[in-house]
Amino acid sequence: MQVNGKDYRTVWMHQRSVFMIEQNLLPFEFKIFESKNYQQTCNAIRTMLVRGAGAIGAAAGFAMAQAFLEAPKDNFRNFVAQARKDIEATRPTARNLFYATERVYLSGKKSTELALTEAQAVADKDAADSQAIGTFGNRLIKNGFHIQTHCNAGWLAFVDFGTALSPIYKAHKAGKDIFVWVDETRPRGQGAKLTAWELQNENIQHRIVPDNAGAWLMSQQKVDMMIVGADRIAANGDTANKIGTFEKAIVAKTFDVPFYVAAPTSTFDLSTKTGNDIIIEERNQEEVLCQSGIDNAGILRKIRIASPSSEAINPAFDVTPAKYITGIITEKGVIKPDEETIRKLFL
Ligand code: MRU
Repeated sequence: MQVNGKDYRTVWMHQRSVFMIEQNLLPFEFKIFESKNYQQTCNAIRTMLVRGAGAIGAAAGFAMAQAFLEAPKDNFRNFVAQARKDIEATRPTARNLFYATERVYLSGKKSTELALTEAQAVADKDAADSQAIGTFGNRLIKNGFHIQTHCNAGWLAFVDFGTALSPIYKAHKAGKDIFVWVDETRPRGQGAKLTAWELQNENIQHRIVPDNAGAWLMSQQKVDMMIVGADRIAANGDTANKIGTFEKAIVAKTFDVPFYVAAPTSTFDLSTKTGNDIIIEERNQEEVLCQSGIDNAGILRKIRIASPSSEAINPAFDVTPAKYITGIITEKGVIKPDEETIRKLFL
């Protein structure tokens, strides 16, 4: 996608470095971070400098490739095995991270050259899958539609194009008159900060809404469909996505609003039978108790917004049971969220 007239991917590798758009600074500052070794790339994933299922998948694949480049000859096998563990320990929920790390690790066991080729192939496939998701998803969007989305499953969350936002970009390019309701997405504000920034860049009409406005919006027939991304989809179609997604799905079912999940097959995890088996990341309570943004002087600050002596919990994801999902938009087409249909995707 373009920023200030220049094409960017969210994450890419050049020589031994991994480059990433610094997402913790957006929408206030656009900056590229250069990670010079696999440990720095791990840290970027952990601190959410790079985030979103596909983008952390690609970053993890590149981190694995960096580890093969860095491994000393006399301790090669132990070094790359430990690196794999370090990469997989950064964030637990997004399936793409494990998918990419494994693919690059297995290729790297044959040669470091192959690790690099495979990491690039993972990133390129992520971008291509997102494009295809856009094409299939666009067919569901009618002229005049008001679409609601949660969190950020746009191009910043993938290598390019995105999943939930990709059909919206295609519909807009096709000349459809569309409008997007952007859930602000507490506590980190990926909707208010990142999705809104992306839509603004593409000149797509949108408004940021408080997370708790979903039931009111849908009860007033202000939403024609909802599209969200996914971090991991179990074999039975249960879907882990940003905390708050499950609530929206319940509301959507109550008001007969079609609820779509958009995700590539690299987000499906057939070894996880149901959503009950998905590990939900628990993040630091500071993210709930404090907020960051820029002050009038343009300086990025973090301030406490909660009662000083209270504590918080911060589950980063929830699981929407398959029965609430109208369909899953994949790079192979739109499918029903049931085990038989999902297994056929992998035949
Ligand atoms: O915690 P994040 O920001 O890495 O979470 C990922 C997400 O942005 C969402 O859950 C998203 O809707 C699916 S990932 C494309």
